[in-house]
Amino acid sequence: MDDLAPGYPSNILDEDRQGVLGRPLDRVDGPLKVAGKAIYAYEYAGQGKAAYGFIVGAAVATGRILAIDTAETSRLPGVVLIMTHPNVPTHRAYVTSGELPSGQPPYGVGRPFLADGRVRYHGEPVALVVAESFEQARDAAARVKVSYEAGPKPATRVKHEAAHAYAPKDVRGFLETDSSKGDFAGAFAGAPVQIDATYDTPFQNHHALEPHASMAVWQDGAVTLYVAAQLPIDCRDVIADTLQLPPEKVRIICKFVGGGFGSKLRTEADAVLSALAARQLGRPVKIAFTRQQVVVNAAHRTESIQRVRLGAERGGRLIALAHEALEHTSTFDEFAEQTVDATRHLYAAPNRLTTHRLVRLDLPMPGDMRAPGEAIGMLATEQAMDELACAIGLDPIELRIRNEPKVHPETGKPFSTRHLVECYREGAQRFGWDRRPAQPATLRDGRWLVGYGMAASIRSNFMATSQARARLAPDGRLTVQTAMTDIGTGTYTILTQIAAECLGLPVGQVTAEIGDSDLPRSPGSGGSFGAGSSGSAVYYACMTLLDRMARAAGLNDPSLLAIKHGQVSVGGQTMPIDAFMAQYAPQGIEADGEIKPGQEMRDYSQNAYGACFAEVGVDIDSGEPRLRRMLGVFTAGRILNAKTARSQATGGLIWGLSSALHEEGLIDERYGKFMNNDLAGYHVPAHADVVDVDAVFLPEVDDKSNPLKSKGLGELGICGSGAAVANAIYNACGVRVRSYPITLDKLIFDPAFPTPD
Ligand code: MOS
Repeated sequence: MDDLAPGYPSNILDEDRQGVLGRPLDRVDGPLKVAGKAIYAYEYAGQGKAAYGFIVGAAVATGRILAIDTAETSRLPGVVLIMTHPNVPTHRAYVTSGELPSGQPPYGVGRPFLADGRVRYHGEPVALVVAESFEQARDAAARVKVSYEAGPKPATRVKHEAAHAYAPKDVRGFLETDSSKGDFAGAFAGAPVQIDATYDTPFQNHHALEPHASMAVWQDGAVTLYVAAQLPIDCRDVIADTLQLPPEKVRIICKFVGGGFGSKLRTEADAVLSALAARQLGRPVKIAFTRQQVVVNAAHRTESIQRVRLGAERGGRLIALAHEALEHTSTFDEFAEQTVDATRHLYAAPNRLTTHRLVRLDLPMPGDMRAPGEAIGMLATEQAMDELACAIGLDPIELRIRNEPKVHPETGKPFSTRHLVECYREGAQRFGWDRRPAQPATLRDGRWLVGYGMAASIRSNFMATSQARARLAPDGRLTVQTAMTDIGTGTYTILTQIAAECLGLPVGQVTAEIGDSDLPRSPGSGGSFGAGSSGSAVYYACMTLLDRMARAAGLNDPSLLAIKHGQVSVGGQTMPIDAFMAQYAPQGIEADGEIKPGQEMRDYSQNAYGACFAEVGVDIDSGEPRLRRMLGVFTAGRILNAKTARSQATGGLIWGLSSALHEEGLIDERYGKFMNNDLAGYHVPAHADVVDVDAVFLPEVDDKSNPLKSKGLGELGICGSGAAVANAIYNACGVRVRSYPITLDKLIFDPAFPTPD
């Protein structure tokens, strides 16, 4: 492999002239947010008086609608429209992901709602009531009478449908369903040490702080949609395709998004129905999901049953490795969570097998939730590795180091960078790993049985085509624009830092403009690709802008122009940037930039890595597990902002904790309905559960990833962190729980649980 892509050459960001990139700069949008001046989708006043829509959900999980009686509802005060499948304006027929070209994720194709009388899942929109006020709409919606011909008892659990499992054609259009290498069965059978364990992970539901919300405003046959969206361009395309409009007739505005986590990748019913209703009424229409409606109308995490088999030599070297996932999709489309994907990249083993199998459930479409795949797959594999370490009496870190691959264990590709072992070592040292009890249930602190656990983290690095524009105004202020979003991750801030570093300007002189589909194309926020992709486009736009400045000053060689802290050095003279602009470019200068996935993406295995450490206490009397400390040590290429990166990482670690101990979407199997569909019944960690959580990034640059030399890190923290907690619980009390979440009942009633004092 001597014709590998050489990577991105040394550039202005490597020089760090400005000292801006990477620093823990406060969020530039922070003051707006704390002052309540950051406007979210539902808060726009609208042109003219907006009407309010409220969605009526199906009361059965399968079957069809026989009749919808809206007579009483339509006479209620304030009601202006009741939209149901018999009267919904014509829009696109449903397109399933199987009908899409290979490799195209289904985020940008039409999504009809109210399109027919079939009921696919409990809560599926069957009517939209629009009224003068939200309260009127909600009250009227409750009085719409829908009669159903109920279908068969819904299929609601993966474990009950296992006999009907099938292999999808691929996983999400870009990953193989299965992979195999060598002879797994033979090697596993002959392995001196064998672990064969089955784990299960529950449904999880999204609960971003801001629920899905939209307001549609039509003018001259074109619609502007203010919407909580992660992907403005895809959202535009969904609305255009659903309503059969040219894309240029649709504009998406999403300046602030109150959390996405994958739930706002797909364009949901709030957006489509507000666009349809607003067109029909000739006035703006707003729709927001209630908390309960988010649970059913937005994606949920797949329920999974995962079998992991590890065959090893007595010294710990893996001979055989298999990870097989059984999970669900819907009856009407396909989503396959890439649950076993991390296993393909993480450990060396000559004989390997990974598989994805799906069952169809009468539930809403499952979908993306932070680190789809790794987040649940590593709950299984990283606990299995701990089981192996315990079986052979080897330190779990040492076991992992002995199985660290030199090249990608399945494709043989080189890694762009891989400093996972450094993460283990640094983490162990910082965490005090040497204090971990070698034998479970041997360390006590009063009532608490104390244990230590660790796990690896890995998350694939992606890049998507992205464009940006940079404009330097005559007064020396720089504006960079791209149709990117800031879903709370810090996009406004890092794009400002990148541009300021490139142009040699103080950050106060730079503005990032995002959240508008009319801006240069961006993939948006998702899959941890946002910062690297849109940031690189901004970098290229700024580099071209510098070049144009040099030319404007009559220089053929742009390196003869240098800007630092807003002072331009040109031809032996130094002047403030506004003076430079007055002299050489009084109209201002503009430049575009673009990044596309290059050969580096194909030639190298690119991942961000880390090691998670947890210390837990398990109450000897009640079995209650509680976190005591948690640390993640990560590498993710160049860090663009130390503060926002750390926030992403600690947030991910906490979500891993949540997966280990708290979260579980519960289905009423009679009705196919999520029961705990609010934050009273759906548990997430509260402040008291989150104690002493820290994240550290080791210095790294990855010159194969992008010109910023950064890697995606938004989803890295959740990968593996839940398993670190599970492993710590085993170390604390000697009970191995393979069914998440690990609640106290699963500990205290286990025969292996230590006898109370
Ligand atoms: Mo992320 S689950 O790709 O928004």
